[in-house]
Amino acid sequence: MNILHLDAGLFGDHSVSRIVGKAVVEQLLAAHPGARVIHRDLAIAAPAHLTGALLTTPVDQAEGATKAEQELTDALIAELFAADTIVIGAPMYNFSIPTQLKAWFDRVLKAGTTFKYTETGPVGLAGGRRVIIASSRGGQYGDNSPMDFQEPYLKALLGFIGLTDIAVVRSEGSAMGDEARKAGIEQALAAVARLQVAAAA
Ligand SMILES: Cc1cc2nc3c(=O)[nH]c(=O)nc-3n(C[C@H](O)[C@H](O)[C@H](O)COP(=O)(O)O)c2cc1C
Repeated sequence: MNILHLDAGLFGDHSVSRIVGKAVVEQLLAAHPGARVIHRDLAIAAPAHLTGALLTTPVDQAEGATKAEQELTDALIAELFAADTIVIGAPMYNFSIPTQLKAWFDRVLKAGTTFKYTETGPVGLAGGRRVIIASSRGGQYGDNSPMDFQEPYLKALLGFIGLTDIAVVRSEGSAMGDEARKAGIEQALAAVARLQVAAAA
């Protein structure tokens, strides 16, 4: 079993999405001791913004930085395809996701590779993998908030490339005082303990 673990929280061990995402990975490893984990810390090394050169230079003509960035895109997509389960630590920033995580999606949503357009519309090509999102928010939104452009957006991005088996473990209230933060983390960790990890092989 291969696990791809993405982190985007900016506050190291204090990041709730890191605490909860790590618990998810530990739960997976307990059920699948031989599993291989690739950890991409996007807060430390985010993919660069897209450029015209990166997107349009033919692979056999790319040089220098453009070639390196194209190789990074290929590596990120290879990690995605190699994964059986993808764990995403995803804070809510300004009602959406951190720019570092968006930069990862900008690389892996690639026409002809992870999705294609057909006469009947787009088709995802990266399905057959499970995704577990450790979602963290400073406030409290619950389900179906009109201000939530984080979890629905993540589901839309993932669904577009065929990833529809998505579980969200959510922690809320991290900016609402110590007690609310602690309660939010405990609630999320309880949800992690309930995840059906044995079925993820
Ligand atoms: C730049 C920035 C923007 C944020 N925007 C929101 C927001 O729109 N809504 C919210 O509830 N919390 C917001 N927060 C609070 C974070 O969602 C909260 O601190 C969360 O726990 C961060 O994730 P982490 O603990 O995994 O690092 C924001 C925090 C930062 C640093």
